[in-house]
Amino acid sequence: MNILITGGAGFIGSHTYVVLKESGFNPIIVDNFSNSSVQVIKQLETICQAPVTYYNLDINDPKTYDLVFNEHKITGIIHFAASKAVGESVDNPLKYYKNNVASTILLLEKMKEHNIKNLVFSSSCTVYGQPDELPVTEKSPVQVAISPYGNTKQMCEEIIADTTHASTDLKAISLRYFNPIGAHSSALIGELPIGPPANLIPFLTQSVAGLRGPLQVFGTDYPTPDGSAIRDYIHVCDLAEAHAKALQHLLSQKDASSYYDFFNIGTGEGTSVLQIIHAFEKTTGEKVNYELKPRRSGDITSVYAAIGKSKDVLAWTSKRSLEKSLQDAWAWQKALL
Ligand SMILES: NC(=O)c1ccc[n+]([C@@H]2O[C@H](COP(=O)([O-])OP(=O)(O)OC[C@H]3O[C@@H](n4cnc5c(N)ncnc54)[C@H](O)[C@@H]3O)[C@@H](O)[C@H]2O)c1
Repeated sequence: MNILITGGAGFIGSHTYVVLKESGFNPIIVDNFSNSSVQVIKQLETICQAPVTYYNLDINDPKTYDLVFNEHKITGIIHFAASKAVGESVDNPLKYYKNNVASTILLLEKMKEHNIKNLVFSSSCTVYGQPDELPVTEKSPVQVAISPYGNTKQMCEEIIADTTHASTDLKAISLRYFNPIGAHSSALIGELPIGPPANLIPFLTQSVAGLRGPLQVFGTDYPTPDGSAIRDYIHVCDLAEAHAKALQHLLSQKDASSYYDFFNIGTGEGTSVLQIIHAFEKTTGEKVNYELKPRRSGDITSVYAAIGKSKDVLAWTSKRSLEKSLQDAWAWQKALL
């Protein structure tokens, strides 16, 4: 069964490629390598011991879809490709509305034209903002986005939901990711930020590796046990497995004419920034140099997932520990040196 993965050379897409292959699917990658390296393809071939079918094409170009869909009978699509830097989205919102929203509209149009019925979309827990209740369930309201990037995720979810409801045969799932970290246990693929990392773990590992200055902990006066902000950190391979489960769930909706739902994909555990630092030091034996800084605007205090719905409906839960995630992130960083 051929599954198109847009953005399949990226951090989450590459790990999902491996899981899909292991689950008996035939993944096909479309990526323009704007935020990834073509070297990832070679690494995937090493991990999977098989050639990778990939296209160096842009998802904003209608010809991309015609070419790929005419060459392969595609059963489903996992749509990862997007721009994802929150700060850049504030400075250059049109890039984000084009690359994230316009491309998703084009993708839906092309799915209809080529009669492709199953879609899994990469959404984010940012849609919840700072929820009133924790852990945050899927019933929590979507809040006004604080960045154009966050807004693109909300808009795409709405566009996909509306399109599904208006269709007689489109089935779609949005997965609301919490904070993916870690890397494949082979240390052949992992997160490859271009420039200074915006996320905690790659900054931390680059700092420990001597590539950056001290890690900056933004905010020590949050109303949390140690004053630093709390997030739900999930191993990227667990997150990748959720995509295979979501696809299988879509494919099992044989009687439904159309289907749309959305799921939290996290561990259900909240961990503070300072707890991450201490866990990293304990599990790797490496010292983390860090500085305590004021809060950063736009950051929320705490968010972690209620995971009952994904467990009950998708039969998915995360399996890997925080320690395993940190060990794998460090092994990946060392492999890059
Ligand atoms: N990493 C996170 O923390 C996180 C959290 C929540 C949601 N997400 C979402 O998950 C998805 C994947 O994230 P990621 O961390 O793997 O990002 P990533 O940047 O590593 O991967 C995205 C891939 O898409 C490709 N791409 C971008 N624009 C393209 C275009 N126009 N045509 C073809 N390819 C294009 C990039 O080259 C890259 O390989 C994104 O939609 C992101 O918004 C990520």
